[in-house]
Amino acid sequence: MTIKPGSPVLSQNFAIPTIPSVVQRIQRLLEDPNAGVRDIAAVVAQDAPLAAKVLKIANSSFYGLREKVVSTQHAASVLGVRVLRGVVMQASVIRQFEHLSGGGLDLDALWRHSIATAQLCQQTGRKARGSIGLAPEELHACGLLHDLGKVVLLDNLRERYLQVVNEARERSLPLHHVEREHLGFDHAEVGHVVAQRWGLPAAMANAILLHHGPAERCEREPAALLIERVNRCVHLVEDGDLEAATAVFDRVTTQTLGLQQRDVEELITLAAELRGSVEV
Ligand SMILES: [Fe+2]
Ligand SMILES: [Fe+2]
Repeated sequence: MTIKPGSPVLSQNFAIPTIPSVVQRIQRLLEDPNAGVRDIAAVVAQDAPLAAKVLKIANSSFYGLREKVVSTQHAASVLGVRVLRGVVMQASVIRQFEHLSGGGLDLDALWRHSIATAQLCQQTGRKARGSIGLAPEELHACGLLHDLGKVVLLDNLRERYLQVVNEARERSLPLHHVEREHLGFDHAEVGHVVAQRWGLPAAMANAILLHHGPAERCEREPAALLIERVNRCVHLVEDGDLEAATAVFDRVTTQTLGLQQRDVEELITLAAELRGSVEV
């Protein structure tokens, strides 16, 4: 399913956020063979509030650093540039939507969910022996951005979107179903458009689009399957249902991704740890 020009998402004339410029600059530095860790850290350090957020995240219990990092240079050398890029993307995307906090949607909970999904996607990618088609860092970004469409919808529609969210809650229906009923499209489609506008690879945009299924489609596309299953798993862990979260990694999933039972157990343990340790 691709969003064609004239489809409901695009015809709404939505304000689609641009890719945070710092992420773009880091991306360029990563592609430059003459640039090193220092250059990347320096770019982050130029933006003081962003640097503060990056240090807060880097020092959160998730990374389990033995010493506290106090500068972006230090964070870059301890975490490595690829992990640092993920942390910067996380911090800058959250900051881009700070103006919406207190606006009726629990954004902190949404970011915690997105970050936990990102970490678990990355870890699943590392463990997978099957061919996924995306690197662990790219899977991290997919996890981080999979529900970004919700934030974009809130930003554009405000009260109208809050009504959709409330209605989904009252009727105990998945939010994307109610979005489709009212708007004609859902947050996965909006996320897909954002990913395309940001110039992310098609496989990443596609995995974001398919993060609620359909299962038959995901089963043919390992990266989409990974994101869909991890998202479901994280939601179930958030609800405290570890048994159901484990069952998400069924035979089709473990075979397609090349995961063993031990990997699944470790992933569930990580998901449970993330539940209490993610900071935003
Ligand atoms: Fe979603
Ligand atoms: Fe989600």
